[in-house]
Amino acid sequence: MSKRIGFAAACAALLLAGCGESGPEFSGVATSGVTDAMIASAPEGEWLTYGRDYGEQRFSPLDQINSENVGELGLAWSADLDTARGQEATPLMHDGVLYITTAWSKVQAYDARTGELKWAYDPEVPRETLAVACCDAVNRGVALYGDKVYVATLDGDLVALNQSDGAVAWRSQVVPDRENYTITGAPRVANGKILIGSGGAEYRARGFLAAYDWQTGEELWRFHTVPGNPADGFENDAMEMAAATWGGNWWELGGGGTVWDSITFDPTTNLVLFGTGNAEPWNPGANDRMGTSEDGEFGDNLYTSSVVAVDADTGEYAWHFQQTPEDRWDYDSNAQITIADLEIGGAMRHVAIHAPKNGYVYVLDAATGEFISGTGWHPINWSLGLDPKTGRPQINPEARYEQTGKLWVSMPGAGGVHSWHPQSYDPNKGVVYLPANNGGFPYKADDDWEASNIGFQTGLDNAATAMPADPAFRQMNLDATTGALVAWDVAAGKEKWRVNYTGPWNGGTLATAGNLVFQGTADERFVAYNANDGKELWSFATQTGVIAAPMTYSIDGEQYVAIVAGWGGVWDIAPGILTAKSGPPRNISRLLVFKLGADGKLPEAPVLAKRVLDPPPVTGSAEQLAAGAVDYGRYCSICHGDAAIAGALNPDLRHSGAINQPASMKAIVIDGAFAHNGMVSFAAALNEEDVENIRHYIIQRANEDKALEGG
Ligand code: HEC
Repeated sequence: MSKRIGFAAACAALLLAGCGESGPEFSGVATSGVTDAMIASAPEGEWLTYGRDYGEQRFSPLDQINSENVGELGLAWSADLDTARGQEATPLMHDGVLYITTAWSKVQAYDARTGELKWAYDPEVPRETLAVACCDAVNRGVALYGDKVYVATLDGDLVALNQSDGAVAWRSQVVPDRENYTITGAPRVANGKILIGSGGAEYRARGFLAAYDWQTGEELWRFHTVPGNPADGFENDAMEMAAATWGGNWWELGGGGTVWDSITFDPTTNLVLFGTGNAEPWNPGANDRMGTSEDGEFGDNLYTSSVVAVDADTGEYAWHFQQTPEDRWDYDSNAQITIADLEIGGAMRHVAIHAPKNGYVYVLDAATGEFISGTGWHPINWSLGLDPKTGRPQINPEARYEQTGKLWVSMPGAGGVHSWHPQSYDPNKGVVYLPANNGGFPYKADDDWEASNIGFQTGLDNAATAMPADPAFRQMNLDATTGALVAWDVAAGKEKWRVNYTGPWNGGTLATAGNLVFQGTADERFVAYNANDGKELWSFATQTGVIAAPMTYSIDGEQYVAIVAGWGGVWDIAPGILTAKSGPPRNISRLLVFKLGADGKLPEAPVLAKRVLDPPPVTGSAEQLAAGAVDYGRYCSICHGDAAIAGALNPDLRHSGAINQPASMKAIVIDGAFAHNGMVSFAAALNEEDVENIRHYIIQRANEDKALEGG
């Protein structure tokens, strides 16, 4: 397609959406370096895009490392990373160079054979951004196209760097504002356009997917996933259609539906398929976003918790399939979408395979979004089943917690049976390898909830659901929270084998023609399994939990396997006692690269010192403790942990010296003494008295746990 025709076609399609004649001109596709054809061919030894090929199968045809010899795999080289937060990136490899991102959206380029650092880029994300990031300062990787490498930053920019030296070619702001939106996902490429969305559906975000010119950084199109204020007019018919499914003044909180992870370009249909997140706030009663009607019918809130498809060149709506209508459980549909050709019921189908948070594995027609199948692969209680024709869930009335007014423990929980951790798909076996989280999550509507200017906007009463200091109850929750690697036969809709893990939040997977499945684990290992039966064949002690997905490449006939290790993400920062399920959480961030016959060793890991609780005595009144629990639950628990029990990344306030002194707490929480490290001032929502209440609550929590620990 020539430049001019490309732009004219794009503009013709966008005219309805107000695309003026003065819109940016598309500079055309790359003709050298990493081209569309090259990504489409998925060269055997390279890894050119997040999911390896356009269909995001993460299946490598390399088989030098295989189920016969994987026992000889050893550490070829490793690189210490300079950020000690969650590492979620999949490395890309092109022309002998390995590109990764780290926490805080930094980019590093290494000689893929030797590990020599070629260049590093730091976008200098302000650390205050942490306060608007739901789930740690993570980043899932770069995109490659032409002579450039692309990273999207936590504070909301898309940056193009030169592959040769890491110099900035351009930097464009993607997000509408920096107070409610963050970006953690890897950009993708479609016909010379760089695609990216954002996170923010716990703040005041309106979801979107946007396309940028790879050369100039100009925005070429933007598809919103929820309608804006009707008074401003709708951008397109899709928005008008969606507006009928919303109630209240939904646009005031943005609506959510953010596109924070999956973006899959399918050259076969020229569609971009992407997943959307939860509607905002989680509790629909808080702003009446589903409307209320006498007959108990609720608005679906399109296009939240859905898979949506748009034209890759114009961003024009093609189809949507909503997996969780009425989402009030944070069942994001953002998990990676895999495209495959597969025989189902005797016919070849071109399908999208998707296992979102809500507990079902879906198979959709990739061209039309038609529901082919949806199968539960985890205990599910929010839905009583799927309509066999439409795939629409029949929602359990008990799960409508804002209607019942009761506490509801949903299965799966808000972490999802499967979140962003990438799955891999073996096209020869028709099997997808899924990382699974097993467990529930408690929801209780806060009936007096009002939106605030800072923090999570979920409309939930987190004090009512905080983990009590009851050993039996805690043990029950610990026992119920586990993880697994599941090999799932897609056409048959059933499990082939599984490996059970102690805890959830294990890494993404890689499948290879060597009959292997690789996965890093929360309990600090990198493991190779036999793809036929899940038998463990090899493992390596990573010294830190692994959440990212591995990849593989080959140089001069030698195959390597690479993974970025470094515990973190939402499972470190929010769930209190459950964080430590796979062992004491710790972050030692590294890039690890393996090959056959290598015998590299990591330096010995520091021993984790056992910390003894030593809080001042409880002096707060019952009113102070109750009020402190509410404010702690709403404003602090997402980072410092449920019931004030923290993971590895943020300080555990039960151990903090600051709780001894009202003045220290005020300096930090009101005056923002540590804002430069992500601990911003909460003066927008809390006054000195509130902070004093929180201090008393933390002291109470510390004393309760000290008693449990026999101290
Ligand atoms: C977005 C994440 C986030 C939220 C939300 C948050 N904090 Fe923090 N907090 C941090 C980080 C990161 C640090 C470490 C800062 C540093 O090392 O300078 C910190 C440090 C602190 C410290 C100092 C601990 C020590 O001993 O070093 C206190 C006290 C504190 N926070 C209290 C609170 C309270 C109270 C709330 C709720 C009103 C809150 N924080 C909400 C991220 C957060």
